Amino acid sequence: MSTTTLGVIGTGMVGLGAARRAVDAGLNVVLSNSRGPETLAGLVSELGQRARAATPAEAARAGDLVIASVPLAAYEQLPRTELAGKTVIDPMNYAPHSGFAIPELDSDELTSSQLVQRHLADARVVKALHNIGPKQLSELFRPAGAPGRTALPLSGDDPDARKEVADLLDVLGFDAVDLGTLADSWRSEPNTPLYAIPYVGQPPSGLTTMEFVAWAQQAPGVPAPAARIKELAAAAVRGPAGFRM
Ligand SMILES: NC(=O)c1ccc[n+]([C@@H]2O[C@H](COP(=O)([O-])OP(=O)(O)OC[C@H]3O[C@@H](n4cnc5c(N)ncnc54)[C@H](OP(=O)(O)O)[C@@H]3O)[C@@H](O)[C@H]2O)c1
Repeated sequence: MSTTTLGVIGTGMVGLGAARRAVDAGLNVVLSNSRGPETLAGLVSELGQRARAATPAEAARAGDLVIASVPLAAYEQLPRTELAGKTVIDPMNYAPHSGFAIPELDSDELTSSQLVQRHLADARVVKALHNIGPKQLSELFRPAGAPGRTALPLSGDDPDARKEVADLLDVLGFDAVDLGTLADSWRSEPNTPLYAIPYVGQPPSGLTTMEFVAWAQQAPGVPAPAARIKELAAAAVRGPAGFRM
């Protein structure tokens, strides 16, 4: 089934970036956040007729496919009943410095997306849209087949769900590189060569992590075709999980 409505749980930088791209690509979006639909009225009117606001449970029900773009610390608040049977894009990254620490992630026993899948036991979680920023997403989309079209990695335990997300990425203007199961999704997590850098290029030397984040958020997008993404995924070495300050 192709996606015509994208449910968005968490309409911050990532959720709004995905929603904008989806609306531009002709999809409907149902936006939600923690504070209630009325707080999204301005964004809905900016995005136009293809957008409406709802609660997270309603966004989950309405989406053919749903993006869970909330802080990882809120993963247990994702509406598991309404997400049962759905394909859920997980763009969340682990940031232990935020005060939310999970021993199974720190020990590399689980990837953060396996943790999310454990909570959303009846959904099909696909890790995607976690290693590119909204600015680069808004700049690097290209039509299918365009030379040098940028590719994004995805991982998930259900092959049909991976295909569904690859098809959505194609509609949004990106190729997909299938990295396999959620257990293997560490290959594109923070602290690997696939995280952010392919889409922004090398940062100036000597930046602190916070300075890197600020720099990357405004850096112009750098195209990263599938061959490059595959090469970087293959070269990844597993280290401590999470985005560390
Ligand atoms: N920023 C980036 O460049 C980037 C890139 C890739 C991946 N990520 C990852 O993507 C996720 C979102 O990042 P972000 O930068 O978009 O964060 P953000 O700007 O802080 O937005 C977070 C959104 O989640 C909502 N939210 C929080 N708790 C919620 C809950 N329990 N139920 C429903 N909505 C809830 C917030 O709603 P309220 O405002 O109403 O609380 C807000 O809309 C994070 O896990 C991050 O690691 C970020």
